[in-house]
Amino acid sequence: PLTRSLSVTSLSGLPLWDEEDLPVDDLLLFEVAWEVTNKVGGIYTVIQTKAKITVDEWGENLFMMGPYYEHNFNTQVEQCEPPNPAIKKAMGALNDNGCLVYFGRWLIEGSPYVILFDTGSAAWNLDRWKGDLWDTCGIGLPAHDREANDSLIFGSMLTDELGDSPNVLAHFHEWQVGAGLILCRSRKIPLATIFTTHATLLGRYICAGNVDFYNNLGKFNIDQEAGERQIYHRYCLERAAVHCAHVFTTVSQITAVEANHMLHRKPDVVTPNGLNIKKFSAMHEFQNLHSTNKGRIQEFIRGHFYGHLDFNLEKTLFFFIAGRYEFSNKGVDIFLESLSRLNYLKMTNDVTVVVFFIMPAKTNNFNVETLKGQAVRKQLWYVSATPDVTPHGVLRNVCGDIPDMNTILDRDDFTIMKRAIYATQRHTLPPVTTHNMLDDTSDPILANVRRIGLFNARIDRVKIVFHPEFLSSTSPLLPMDYEEFVRGCHLGVFPSYYEPWGYTPGECTVMGIPSVTTNLSGFGCFMEEHVSDPTAYGIYIVDRRFRSADDSCNQLTQFMFGFCQQSRRQRIIQRNRTERLSDLLDWRYLGRFYMHARSLALSRAFPDKFKMEPLAPPQTEGFRYPRPGSVPPSPSASVHSTPHHSDEEDDDDDEEPYDEDKEAERDRQNIKAPFTLGA
Ligand code: UDP
Ligand code: G6P
Ligand code: GLC
Repeated sequence: PLTRSLSVTSLSGLPLWDEEDLPVDDLLLFEVAWEVTNKVGGIYTVIQTKAKITVDEWGENLFMMGPYYEHNFNTQVEQCEPPNPAIKKAMGALNDNGCLVYFGRWLIEGSPYVILFDTGSAAWNLDRWKGDLWDTCGIGLPAHDREANDSLIFGSMLTDELGDSPNVLAHFHEWQVGAGLILCRSRKIPLATIFTTHATLLGRYICAGNVDFYNNLGKFNIDQEAGERQIYHRYCLERAAVHCAHVFTTVSQITAVEANHMLHRKPDVVTPNGLNIKKFSAMHEFQNLHSTNKGRIQEFIRGHFYGHLDFNLEKTLFFFIAGRYEFSNKGVDIFLESLSRLNYLKMTNDVTVVVFFIMPAKTNNFNVETLKGQAVRKQLWYVSATPDVTPHGVLRNVCGDIPDMNTILDRDDFTIMKRAIYATQRHTLPPVTTHNMLDDTSDPILANVRRIGLFNARIDRVKIVFHPEFLSSTSPLLPMDYEEFVRGCHLGVFPSYYEPWGYTPGECTVMGIPSVTTNLSGFGCFMEEHVSDPTAYGIYIVDRRFRSADDSCNQLTQFMFGFCQQSRRQRIIQRNRTERLSDLLDWRYLGRFYMHARSLALSRAFPDKFKMEPLAPPQTEGFRYPRPGSVPPSPSASVHSTPHHSDEEDDDDDEEPYDEDKEAERDRQNIKAPFTLGA
């Protein structure tokens, strides 16, 4: 029977899911997404981080399906033979036909099996498959839409692959794999299906056009809107998949409402996005990591701002925004405007803010000025920091005795040092962007930087570094991967307008880095629901729903200004609190919503076999993180308050020491109403 048991409780008092007693031995679970082994955005993060708990539950019966790309396969997958005879047979038939399918283990935690379809190899069937699609559901795909055509090829191959497997539960993510779901259902393959949407096509498109979307949800003529944007066929694929699925889910409540209007089906289950949380054995290890990674960012800044380093790096805060480059959907527009206001406010406490924009755009490699900055920094370091390799071996022979100070540097040493110092003169301002942009004049970030005039002048307290490429540890410029970079920053700023979930602030949270989100993002709404005083925990939620854009900018400016007023000690305490919210975002807690969706789909698809009533949906209502014990009760007073209000960095001698562990324990005791699990 479909019974569930709870056994483990997390540190914060959240009950973690232990196991689901589905008869998984006889069942195969296929999880299908275009981002399986193929990183584009947040859907990859969903699939990749969730793999571990799904494998724990389904073991060798879990198969993930996605598109084959040679580079991804070579770097992320270990090829092997499919263990399941039905899968092997179907793959053999496809391969014999020249439609290539690859099998292996995805080298991520949990090592799930993956089946990857090479759509290029099967493209010669496209016209026939287009005809089939038209005959079954009247959806026609235009020749010029490569993505839609690929999605049909993928769906057709997948349907052939699944045709012979018995007892299948197939979970499809997003419209790109919707064709597979539609075809499986129209060919009456006996399987239970779930469709999860991580955004609606129309929502994303309409919002990108600066429309007051959320106040007009019911007023759009959706067919017409899709037609005008030339995505009518994609929208048909999406809508058909949604309506063909036994169970329809989406990632947040706000997207559930949107889906109801844009796709005309109310989701059966909301499946919030989690992360695979790993706790360090040393409690405050994440603080150390912040410190070391910040040091690496400071190194980069030394080079980038050479000749203009008249600000104190110890009093410099690093803010950043990162993600796919959707200028208004990701809120870059209001971020830039707020930064210009912050710059105007002129911080009184010598704080400088360096803001990174990590958003991929079309570029033609790093620019010379940026590379030169790093070269100058390395040269200075070489000359000044390694005594035993300085050309004249200044300290090379020192062994215990104080050397004669008059001879410690000879003339040539001085010459070399002078030349190194002269090399740091520059006649241009430190560059705003690190790369040569292909669309320099029309690029929206650069255009707005020009408008607000934030050119990294000496007088500016807010400096801008636009890195139009995702980060990588092999970069010659800023050799850090994204996680290391986030850890080294002080604040992530994600003031999105359109954001069904938004992983970036959640990732900050689990690394103990405060962030800004909005009440239009799934994540922001989720935090508002489950945390009594999010600001005290370092989650700043900008109101983009009930305020004008101008007011939202003011609020964001205020948040950033307040953040800059904190002392180092206050920041450390705030980071501790932020990190304490991780349990809430753990798949071991949030995975239950996927489990519920699965049992619901099985009971709908195979009512005879899965006769039992599906379990009542898991609920999170009633579960809330209390306001941290040491924060005053009034929300306004708590905004940036911590137990200490010291202006001096690290000056805390005269106050009772703040005991982080005690506070965490007290808060844990205060969590009175752990959420219920239904029957
Ligand atoms: N990301 C990354 N490298 C970067 C910037 C972002 O890998 O330099 C990842 C980030 O970790 C996150 C994803 O991109 O998991 C973005 O997901 P999100 O849900 O925030 O937005 P989406 O792109 O799906 O709209
Ligand atoms: C961590 C480290 C501390 C360091 C601090 C800097 O907490 O453990 O040793 O002083 O980071 O914090 P800041 O917010 O100034 O980067
Ligand atoms: C989509 C959404 C994003 C979400 C991600 C994962 O790409 O734009 O908000 O976090 O999917 O669900």
